[in-house]
Amino acid sequence: MSSNPADSAVIFPAHHPERDSVGDFRADVLKGLSARPKTLPSKYLYDEIGSGLFEKICELPEYYLTRTELKLLRRHGAEMAAMIGRDCLLIEYGIGSGLKTRLLLGHLTDPVAYVPVDVAHPQLRESAATIRRDFPHIVVRPVCADFTTFSRLPDVGASSARRVVYFPGSTIGNFTRPEARQLLARAALLCGPNGGLLLGVDLKKHPQILEKAYNDRQSVTAAFNLNALARVNRELQATFRPDQFWHYAPYNPRHGRVEMHLVSRSDQQVQVAGENFSLAEGESICTEYCHKYSLRDLHELTRGTGFTIERTWLDENKYFSVSYLAVRRR
Ligand code: AVJ
Repeated sequence: MSSNPADSAVIFPAHHPERDSVGDFRADVLKGLSARPKTLPSKYLYDEIGSGLFEKICELPEYYLTRTELKLLRRHGAEMAAMIGRDCLLIEYGIGSGLKTRLLLGHLTDPVAYVPVDVAHPQLRESAATIRRDFPHIVVRPVCADFTTFSRLPDVGASSARRVVYFPGSTIGNFTRPEARQLLARAALLCGPNGGLLLGVDLKKHPQILEKAYNDRQSVTAAFNLNALARVNRELQATFRPDQFWHYAPYNPRHGRVEMHLVSRSDQQVQVAGENFSLAEGESICTEYCHKYSLRDLHELTRGTGFTIERTWLDENKYFSVSYLAVRRR
């Protein structure tokens, strides 16, 4: 099968205008800033500038996550592919540089289609184009949607193929336990009785190692975090002064997560989309949770979701895990 012209289009789910499926930036920002404590949803960190900064984070010496996951893919990619099986339809939740995707696709035997799902439209188009170029025999159907609510696969002409969700990068760490469970349960429904999930998760380790990964010496992570305010300024005519905030990313052992905060350096007023918000000196806007799992946490996570862990690959330091989960037969 070769790629046809329709391949190049990004699909917006039929029943939702773009805004609905990707989230309403304005409403979400106003809601988050009205909440106590204040928050900004982490998915909005990844505009074009934020995605570029995240790419740089992935190369930092302190940020071991990407490097370790790539190593696991290089080492065990063939075993992962064997668990997934031949002729699969691969759905990816969120897209990155495409490096992991290419490694995985390279190991799979005759995958029939690749459906990346992401809220970021330009990045989705670009990465789909490169995958198409490198794997011309695979049908590529990018869907612009929030994968937490995505439930309808586009028609890829492979209705009987085994469906496997690829969810790398420890992105699952952005979600609280109930949210993460719900996401897995939805993925199990999407995949159906024969489906699977290849899941990359960052593991619990010494808090100092974790804190270094999110507080790098070159302050790229700080720039990534502060870009959230700059984006709100750009897109919602807001008056944030990023120099009036500190990047603060401690590990919270009680919740097993790194928390990214923007802490106000002074009492200040900000206008966002015509509304006024006050920040007290020392008040924080929480921009991201990055939950860390133990292997036991991981097993507990899957309980009641429809998935069971069939196999887990670890690096020699046990820093990162990639697991293959199968939809439990019942
Ligand atoms: C893309 C969510 C996996 O949690 O490590 C990196 C995002 N934030 N540095 C992570 C992130 C700050 C990253 N995830």
